[in-house]
Amino acid sequence: MSSLHIQQVRKSYGSTDILKGIDIGIDDGEFLVLVGPSGCGKSTLLSMIAGLDTVTSGDILIGNQRVNDLHPSKRDIAMVFQSYALYPNMSVAENIAFGMEMRKVPKAEREKAIQDVAKLLQMQHLLDRRPSQLSGGQRQRVAMGRALVRHPQIFLFDEPLSNLDAKLRVDMRTEIKKLHQRLKATIVYVTHDQIEAMTLATKIAVMRNGELQQLGSPSEVYNKPANTFVASFIGSPSMNLIPGRLVPHGDGLALEIEHNTTEGLQIPLPPQPDSVTAYVGKEIIAGLRPEAIGNGNLQKHELTRQVQADLVVTEPTGPDTLAILKLGGFEVTARLEADATYPAGHRGLFTVDLTKLVMFDSQTEQRIA
Ligand SMILES: Nc1ncnc2c1ncn2[C@@H]1O[C@H](COP(=O)(O)OP(=O)(O)OP(=O)(O)O)[C@@H](O)[C@H]1O
Ligand SMILES: [Mg+2]
Repeated sequence: MSSLHIQQVRKSYGSTDILKGIDIGIDDGEFLVLVGPSGCGKSTLLSMIAGLDTVTSGDILIGNQRVNDLHPSKRDIAMVFQSYALYPNMSVAENIAFGMEMRKVPKAEREKAIQDVAKLLQMQHLLDRRPSQLSGGQRQRVAMGRALVRHPQIFLFDEPLSNLDAKLRVDMRTEIKKLHQRLKATIVYVTHDQIEAMTLATKIAVMRNGELQQLGSPSEVYNKPANTFVASFIGSPSMNLIPGRLVPHGDGLALEIEHNTTEGLQIPLPPQPDSVTAYVGKEIIAGLRPEAIGNGNLQKHELTRQVQADLVVTEPTGPDTLAILKLGGFEVTARLEADATYPAGHRGLFTVDLTKLVMFDSQTEQRIA
């Protein structure tokens, strides 16, 4: 196991810049999850760590060793690709054991490793089949198995669960987390799945157009997103990003939301730092997660404010009910209790939890509080 440091890494194809100076550092044993829209450069970054793609400029360090010019086979990395390549003329068991055979691991040890991994990945019954006799998800598990029988410095996973059905995906997610706890392995993992990112990561790197937007713990990127892009990318349903103004209110400030309506809304705020009071009279973007907006009767604390809102529609999801509300004329999503039932067109009191309010500069879109 090793630490990994990516320093000012750039990648260009001809005149097209794919990665524009990425800095990411993780300690030995960390679980880094890369997320970002399709085409932002996640797979490219993994390929460069593995040594399958050259680095245009910058450095990649595994442990204390600069590996830019080190051959892939010397990097001691196990990778599961987005498109898993299996040897078609070998059985599942042979595919899993191939690397070990090359490294002359004794047969008994290989057999045991195959059985352990097959059990972990729920595919004992598939060991004698050829890849052509497997479904996409089963092939993906074989590719995963091939990586897991090794004990490399770093595991690289590129959307390893994307072809699995919902139930197996959740099971495998838990298995991967257990595996990480047990092996204390250093892992870099790409996913489009929000829950996978939040549950597995010790650090999440959010990328956009070849640039790093934020590197932080799941709780940091979720609760303190660096900018509106991260705020809307992480979390489902997305954080509500509400255009508003900061206005004087008594001795302090209030958040004013007035969107195509004569009935604006003012939400009094607790005392704010100078970085925020500098915005009095100016437009800002208020960020509220759906769970920060609740039923009017929820237990209150000092920083809960009651607001009048119009209910547009409710969407029961099972564990909770999503409600689209109009706050000061602006449509937001609220996550209410499962049994919350309201008639369409209901107008009433809801609550806003100000401990969960974040604010962004409306021009730069960077977080100010
Ligand atoms: N060999 C290449 N030559 C030119 N451009 C390339 C090459 N390989 C990848 N790209 C471009 O680099 C960008 C990043 O691709 P990459 O595969 O890293 O994205 P990604 O973040 O993994 O996306 P996805 O989530 O869809 O897998 C894309 O715009 C892609 O078209
Ligand atoms: Mg990719």
